[in-house]
Amino acid sequence: MLICTVSGKGGTGKSTVSSGLAIAAANMGKKVLLIDLDASLRCLDIIFGIDDKIVFDLSDAIIEGNIKKAIYPAALYDNIFIVPAPAEGGIDFDKLKNLLAAVKLDFDFIILDFPAGADFGNYAVFSAAQFIVVSGADSVSVRDAGVISGGIKTNAPPRLIINRFDIDMIKGGMYKNIDGIIDASSTRLLGIVPADGELLTLSVNHSLKPRGRAAKAFTRIIKRVSGEDVRLPKLKKI
Ligand SMILES: Nc1ncnc2c1ncn2[C@@H]1O[C@H](COP(=O)(O)OP(=O)(O)O)[C@@H](O)[C@H]1O
Ligand SMILES: [Mg+2]
Repeated sequence: MLICTVSGKGGTGKSTVSSGLAIAAANMGKKVLLIDLDASLRCLDIIFGIDDKIVFDLSDAIIEGNIKKAIYPAALYDNIFIVPAPAEGGIDFDKLKNLLAAVKLDFDFIILDFPAGADFGNYAVFSAAQFIVVSGADSVSVRDAGVISGGIKTNAPPRLIINRFDIDMIKGGMYKNIDGIIDASSTRLLGIVPADGELLTLSVNHSLKPRGRAAKAFTRIIKRVSGEDVRLPKLKKI
């Protein structure tokens, strides 16, 4: 299955969500390829503890027509493999799509971690993918998520992940409630990820505690994306 994580604004948590979903899938025994598309701001290599191992990146893979050259195993997970983003320069998305065809059958999930920005032309290349729009719960982020999902024309409609959720912010009236967020973004909810210090330090620890709040949230999401009917827990338990 091909998953694309996107958002209009930067810093909504696309790379964190991509990494968390990869970890959840790996914990379920699935094999995951995680491709960093944020050319100048690559981070998945640091998150997964392999930044000192990288010789080739996605631009080398595209130039040579061979993605296997730029696939690196994560430091702490046997089933997660990373393709680092080019240190500089753009990405030819049509060529990337062709490269993916060669490894499609080797992985249960291929996750494309996009840079911020409404690159609808690039999104359209992956019309068979499940797009995930990552949003904060604040109204600016939610409106942005609505604009992005409205412009994505894929076979399956894009789904929403609300990231950095904190029940106290809803109670305090700073954020809208969950229904309000879904209405304002007109996007079907896929899941909610808590604001969690463990995610802030992912690039230090390179792993998540399998029974922690964050890992549980990502496990629910990866199950839903695979077609399982997993209920949202009570908001205070997220
Ligand atoms: N749910 C979360 N809880 C705590 N910190 C988070 C969470 N999601 C993201 N962050 C932090 O926010 C920052 C931006 O996240 P990142 O995933 O890099 O965003 P993006 O890829 O959308 O630019 C990072 O420092 C990350 O650790
Ligand atoms: Mg990112």
